Amino acid sequence: ALISLKQLMDDASEHGYAIPAFNVNNMEQMLPIMGAADATDSPVIMQASRGARAFANDIVLSHLIKAAIALYPHVPVCMHQDHGNSPATCMSAIANGFSSVMMDGSLSEDGATPTTFEENVAVTAKVVEMAHLVGVSVEGEIGHLGSLETGRGEAEDGHGFDGVLSKDMLLTDPNEAARFVELTKVDALAVAIGTSHGAYKFTRKPDGDILAIDRLKEIHDLIPDVPLVMHGASSVPEELQDIINAHGGDIKPTWGVPVEEIQQGIKFGVRKVNVDTDLRMAMTGAIRQVLTANPAEFDPRKYLAPSIAAMRSVCEHRYESFGAAGRG
Ligand code: G3H
Ligand code: 13P
Ligand code: NA
Ligand code: ZN
Repeated sequence: ALISLKQLMDDASEHGYAIPAFNVNNMEQMLPIMGAADATDSPVIMQASRGARAFANDIVLSHLIKAAIALYPHVPVCMHQDHGNSPATCMSAIANGFSSVMMDGSLSEDGATPTTFEENVAVTAKVVEMAHLVGVSVEGEIGHLGSLETGRGEAEDGHGFDGVLSKDMLLTDPNEAARFVELTKVDALAVAIGTSHGAYKFTRKPDGDILAIDRLKEIHDLIPDVPLVMHGASSVPEELQDIINAHGGDIKPTWGVPVEEIQQGIKFGVRKVNVDTDLRMAMTGAIRQVLTANPAEFDPRKYLAPSIAAMRSVCEHRYESFGAAGRG
């Protein structure tokens, strides 16, 4: 059944686990996200970015979600707008049947400039006021994702601000977070604690110290009842990089957020963990593998089926390790 993010977050907060929120663009991603949830008895958050909506078309996407729910009627599913950039984006998502929206007011609507606290509050509160009237949940964001190593924003990935941000801006201020939630009434809050989007997060191997866990703990201590969201939470597993690179790909050396560090975050209030890159890599690796081994193959099902299986195994692992398994 389709349910709101708030309903899922309430159970996650009560029982101290997190739900992976997987990005979805097509049937081949929907099937493993749902199949893995069914197999592990997990609740589901599927999220579509603006890019996903443009790629798949809103009509196709809304029917894809209906198909997911019809296939697995016993699985609780939240359909979430990832990184909505304006009230209009959030409202059109709701009109297409989404049960949750992110109003990312940390950047201007065109993504070119960081906003002020007041601007972020104003645009987010407006979305909350409308969404809550129809039982739709809202995720807000306070702070700016980007690399703490370089201070750079995320323009290289097509995300976010293209420029150097101060360390102050790259880590969410706990007092601002508390005021933001009070003023906007968001149901979940994305925080900046050292993660960034895409495959190129860290240039060294993390050693239990890659996230700003102290900062996360300060935020959680101040607003213990607010479900926190970790964006940019892909682990960028070396084995997936290796599969891609062994079959004609060219992923440069890179590290993501180890699952163990995400589990640390879950101890301090993280309840929604956004994962897109890991499924992209699993899908691409499997397709490359089939096509390089069988250059004469041209039946798409021959490479899409293994790519579904590869994504499914990533999904199952995340449901299990974030504690969502058994809570469906
Ligand atoms: O936050 C971004 C997600 O990874 C979605 O990426 O905008 O390329 O669909 P996208
Ligand atoms: P990754 O790029 O780490 O998968 O993050 C996805 C995300 O945060 C979507 O909002
Ligand atoms: Na942001
Ligand atoms: Zn994100």
